[in-house]
Order: sequence, then C-alpha cells, then structure tokens
Amino acid sequence: MTKTRVLTGITTTGTPHLGNYVGAIRPAIAASQDPNVQSYYFLADFHALIKCQDPKRVQESRREIAATWLALGLDTDNAIFYRQSDIPEIPELTWMLSCVCAKGLMNRAHAYKAAVAENEEAGNQDPDKGITMGLFGYPVLMAADILMFNANKVPVGRDQIQHIEMARDMAGRFNHLFKDNFFTLPEAVVDDKVAVLNGLDGRKMSKSYNNTIPLFVAEKKLLKLVRKIKTNSLEPGEPKDPDTCTLFQIYSAFASAEEAEAMRQEYANGIGWGDAKNRLFEYLNEQLREPRERYQALMEDPGHIESVLMKGAERARAEAAPTMDRLRQAVGLGRFV
Ligand code: TRP
Repeated sequence: MTKTRVLTGITTTGTPHLGNYVGAIRPAIAASQDPNVQSYYFLADFHALIKCQDPKRVQESRREIAATWLALGLDTDNAIFYRQSDIPEIPELTWMLSCVCAKGLMNRAHAYKAAVAENEEAGNQDPDKGITMGLFGYPVLMAADILMFNANKVPVGRDQIQHIEMARDMAGRFNHLFKDNFFTLPEAVVDDKVAVLNGLDGRKMSKSYNNTIPLFVAEKKLLKLVRKIKTNSLEPGEPKDPDTCTLFQIYSAFASAEEAEAMRQEYANGIGWGDAKNRLFEYLNEQLREPRERYQALMEDPGHIESVLMKGAERARAEAAPTMDRLRQAVGLGRFV
C-alpha cells in the first residue's frame, strides 16, 4: 500500500506561540500518527533568509522550533523531520524549476505584489525598491520543497494556497516539457476546523503584530501575558459573550468540549475578567508544564537536536538524491557513461 505523503515547512524566523501550536503544530503531529500517512516536516530555513538577515535570530529560531516539535511529541522515527538547508538537492531543484517557471507567474504572487503595492503607495520611483530575488522567487523554492518529495497533501494557512497552485503549475510544465510524470501534483489542505487564535490585542495572533503568547515562556511570564489579553469593560456579575472573547477562544482551543461548555456557562453567569484570566492561565500552565520541561531540557542539549535532524536529513536525502539523478538525466545533465 502506498502512503499519502503529507509535507509542510515552518519558516524559522520566530518563536513558536500558542497560535502556531493550535493552528499548525498540533494538527501536524496528529496527522503524522496516521499509519496511512508518511509525513515530511521541515524547517524552512532557506526561506527564513528572505525575511531575516539577523544570523542569531535565524539560528535561535531553528533551534527553538526543532525543540518545540520534539517536546510536543513528534515521533521522528515515523515523520521525516529535517532542515531544508541540509538537503542540497532542494536548491538544485529550485534552479531547474526556475528555468521552466514563467516570470509572469511570479509577478502575480501575493507577497511580491504586496511589496510592489507598498512601494507605489509610498511614491517610490522604483516599484521593486528593496525587493530581493529571494522574495521574488520564494514560490519556486517552495515548489522545490514540495515536488522534491512528491507530496500529495500540503497543509498550509490560507495565505499559502496560491503557492501550492504555483507548485502545481511548475510540476505540470516540467512534466510536459520533459515528457514524463516526474512530479506529483500537490494539493493544498486548509483545515477550517482548526482554530485561528487571536493575540493579546484581539487581532490574529501573529509575530507581525507583536501580540503573541510564546508556547514555552516561564510560568510568571505566561501569567503576565494572559493578564494583558484585551477584554471589554463589563463588570463581574454581568453576563459576557464567550464568542467574541479572546480568553474564551484560547481556553476552548485547549480544553475538552465539556470544559469549554462549563466555561460558557460561567460567562453567562457573569464571571469577572480577573477570574477568567486566572482560570485560563491555570489551565494553560497545567497543560504546558510537561512539554515545557522537555523543551527546556532539549534546548540545553543541542547535540541531541542536531543528531535527530541529521537522521532526518539522511532519510530525506535517501529519496532526494536518486530523484535528482533522474531529473538531471531528464534535462540533459546526466553522466556521460
Ligand atoms: N511558505 C510557508 C509559510 O510561510 C513555509 C513553507 C516553505 C512551506 N516551504 C514550504 C509550507 C513547503 C508548505 C510546503 O508558511
């Protein structure tokens, strides 16, 4: 039986927060436990260089993200867990795809278009001001990540759907030009049931809004952050609406259905914001205690993380290298004998 290949990448520029956990990490770890699935999860550290030229931040983020996934129980005997930058076949494939990818397709990429629009709004003479080839070609690198392993399904956020469509486009074009089914056409998977958490200020929790609650902050800091979550000015005793409340939203993303229902009742009964915050803190703290300890131990043992990732890279390259040989052959770069 052939397994479905599920692949996704995590750009290594930030520290994982509650929103990342609920929206991406938790479902990914659960999916990797399905015996019908072979999952490929990787640190998209080449992608990180596009947004971040601070080497310390990139290095730290790679270590934090790797430690986070391991602390939360990713089984790396099962899932193939690796760093993009450990797979030299990926940049090689990026070049091959660049050579079949229409420039006009990249002109239409949302991230590039947004950067151009920003320049135009700012009245810059050059609409491409400050835009690197890295940003422009971002979708090609991403297509290489996906096509390298012939992924069937790619779980992503809505903002990434266009990139998967572009990967399909490049795959189709390469297959057509070189007359074989070299690449599987990947499908984006966007799970609407997965909660998108709001952050401290009530907007979507995101590093770019600086409103996140990091997953493994120390207890005291966690309490401080939970207390900062924006609420309205209703007094204790007044009924409150859980469905527009960030505290409730986060609570219910972690709690069981029964616990969430009980909390809903407390809102109807007029729980005070101070109490609601304490309850959320206690609940989170309890759930995060064990993984937080594992995380801290892992962060102090970079040698272990390194060896896990090297093993992942070895498994990934065992597939990537023969695939790349075949592709080299296909385009006319095979050996002479
Ligand atoms: N671009 C993705 C993001 O910002 C990260 C990523 C890089 C990715 N390569 C990928 C996701 C390949 C899925 C598949 O979220």
